[in-house]
Amino acid sequence: AIDIAKLRGETGLITLDEGFVNTGSTTSAITFLDGEKGILRYRGYPIEQLAANCDFAEVAYLLIYGELPTADQMHTFRDTLRQHTIVHEDIRRFFEGFPRDAHPMAMLSSVIATLSAFYPDSTSVKDPQQLHVSMMRLLAKTPTIASYCYKKSIGQPFMYPKNDLDYSQNFLRLMFGTPAEEYEIDPVEVEALNLLLIVHADHEQNCSTSTVRMVGSSDANLFASISAGIGALWGPLHGGANEACVAMLDRIRRDNGNVEKYVDMAKDKDNNFRLMGFGHRVYKNFDPRAKIIKAACDKLLAKMKINDPIFEIAQKLEEAALTDEYFVERKLYPNVDFYSGVVYRALGIPVPMFTVMFAIGRLPGWIAHWLEMRNCPTTRINRPRQVYTGATERDFVPIDQRK
Ligand code: ACO
Repeated sequence: AIDIAKLRGETGLITLDEGFVNTGSTTSAITFLDGEKGILRYRGYPIEQLAANCDFAEVAYLLIYGELPTADQMHTFRDTLRQHTIVHEDIRRFFEGFPRDAHPMAMLSSVIATLSAFYPDSTSVKDPQQLHVSMMRLLAKTPTIASYCYKKSIGQPFMYPKNDLDYSQNFLRLMFGTPAEEYEIDPVEVEALNLLLIVHADHEQNCSTSTVRMVGSSDANLFASISAGIGALWGPLHGGANEACVAMLDRIRRDNGNVEKYVDMAKDKDNNFRLMGFGHRVYKNFDPRAKIIKAACDKLLAKMKINDPIFEIAQKLEEAALTDEYFVERKLYPNVDFYSGVVYRALGIPVPMFTVMFAIGRLPGWIAHWLEMRNCPTTRINRPRQVYTGATERDFVPIDQRK
């Protein structure tokens, strides 16, 4: 057992909070969430209102600048984004070097990190002008880069952005268009994509956002910080859960839709199986994002006349888990990842791209937090302490005398 009292004497007083369950790492004015009541607000505006009234670029503006834009401000913002959508031809060539079956998240994080090689001025993190350009480049180029991750995997030619389109329209065309024919944009798909990106846009001090702040606190540039955040997002306990969730739902479908069996498996502590898309560190009542996405699923599938068995399985599984004592006692509810995969599938986005979609959505949140961290006069390099549990002092033993 660790003698904490003794360790305190040796190291000074240190609070130990594994997983930072009760430790605030910063003050922040960006996103408010109340896990007990299921409330999520960006800059004070309820997520439900933003999802119903805004497109993603407008929400990105709100998160980054703190206020909803006027029509003029929005016009300038959209225009600036359009100027930066294209990526350097040498960055395109990076994709030639990746194996065709490379995971898109691996390609995305490395290409985003690479942006600081192409824009070396991005390392001037104390220059507000430079920060602004880096931010716009990142927001504008990430969908283009993300689409190249997909095109690479299917061996299709890469598309150039078309700058009379807006953010989500452009992305759908980059993903599903081909140089051979005009791509027809479906407004229903654009609406669904905007909604998905909006509900993912920020979620205060989650694992990836904390990573972005942590890396940025050393004065690392924006591209390096965001690339690290993409790495953190990839894990199946965080953003990677959307991919893992659809894989699980598909497994249940192939197993005759036997949801009860999987609920039982998730309760059994002897195996490592968890219901993916269930549970959240903060939400202990319901996840408002999951509610919005579930409603969108219903609408989108009906409009697109899609009958997806995965959606039916998801609904059955939710019902079975929510009436099960184990899940009720632990306050485990569907989270944002539970239904998002169904919408991505309806949009034709393949499973390995799901977490990339999450990254595109989370980008304004990461940027807003990075800027907030940089602009806060009391920011210091993030440097957590530890409680050391290793060997006490011992003398070196030459190699020929070691047993
Ligand atoms: N299935 C079965 N049991 C679960 C699940 C689940 N999905 N989630 C939590 N539990 C159980 C744990 O086993 C634990 O039980 P115990 O008290 O008997 O030991 C209890 O509920 C508390 O769980 P913790 O792991 O301590 O909760 P924590 O806050 O650390 O983890 C997390 C939250 C990672 C989201 C967890 O619920 C999980 O692994 N969910 C599945 C993965 C997932 O959906 N991740 C996406 C999260 S949302 C996002 O990042 C965008």
